[in-house]
Amino acid sequence: MNIANRTVLITGANRGIGRALVDEAVKRGAKRIYAASRGGFQIAGAGVTPLTLDVTNAAQIQEAVKKVGSLDVLINNAGVAIYDDLTSLDVIEQHLAVNFFGVLKMINVFLPLLKRSKGAIVNNLSLVGLAALPNIPAYSASKAAAFNMTQSLRSLLACQGVTVHAVVLGPVDTEMNRGFNVPKASPESAAAGIFDGLAKGEDEIFPDPASLSIAEAWRNGAVKAMERQFAVFAPHSAN
Ligand SMILES: NC(=O)c1ccc[n+]([C@@H]2O[C@H](COP(=O)([O-])OP(=O)(O)OC[C@H]3O[C@@H](n4cnc5c(N)ncnc54)[C@H](OP(=O)(O)O)[C@@H]3O)[C@@H](O)[C@H]2O)c1
Repeated sequence: MNIANRTVLITGANRGIGRALVDEAVKRGAKRIYAASRGGFQIAGAGVTPLTLDVTNAAQIQEAVKKVGSLDVLINNAGVAIYDDLTSLDVIEQHLAVNFFGVLKMINVFLPLLKRSKGAIVNNLSLVGLAALPNIPAYSASKAAAFNMTQSLRSLLACQGVTVHAVVLGPVDTEMNRGFNVPKASPESAAAGIFDGLAKGEDEIFPDPASLSIAEAWRNGAVKAMERQFAVFAPHSAN
């Protein structure tokens, strides 16, 4: 899926990787870019339409789908990360509400549009969803759950012509990981890597140097092989 002349919706578009994805989509000639964010932030640019959208708010998601009308690519980018130690269920629920249920709610509501366009779903996930980072265990668990969901949706939607991609991000220099002192990729390079991976049709997109370091092992590994074996159990329906 090359995004030139396509319609794209990006959640969490007001800052960080989401903002860089909007800019990159403009650069690559997307026809229309829906830049969804919680606040009143206005994003200017050719073909950019701001949308007010909290991914935990079902009514706002329904409003958004009415405004959008047709869509080729849904990028579930909005996310939260809070330092914790798994002792607060409230913190765990906050992560799941945005990073898991927020993604799923968006997909369920926008799916009819994506089926019509034979479009793509891109979920911005994380290396820590594959191997937990113990200073952000609730975040890690929420990204692991969203990764697992992405695998199922990939199989479930394949026969309907919708592709489902997991972006396995390593550290990127945004507000989210301020204070976490490791080498980080720029949001701009991560955004370019995400659209490059989508254009190549990669199931898992590894858009930065840290994530790229495991790409080959992942693609040739036991977990990917198992996913392919399990995919035959997906019910085949064209509806
Ligand atoms: N940065 C990294 O190192 C890294 C690594 C792996 C994965 N990721 C993933 O990449 C994605 C983007 O992260 P980032 O680094 O750009 O983080 P960021 O700078 O903290 O931006 C997070 C974005 O998500 C939005 N958001 C949070 N809760 C939301 C909600 N309920 N509804 C709608 N939007 C919501 C925020 O909006 P507000 O401004 O309104 O809060 C903001 O736009 C996330 O899914 C993150 O988990 C990032």
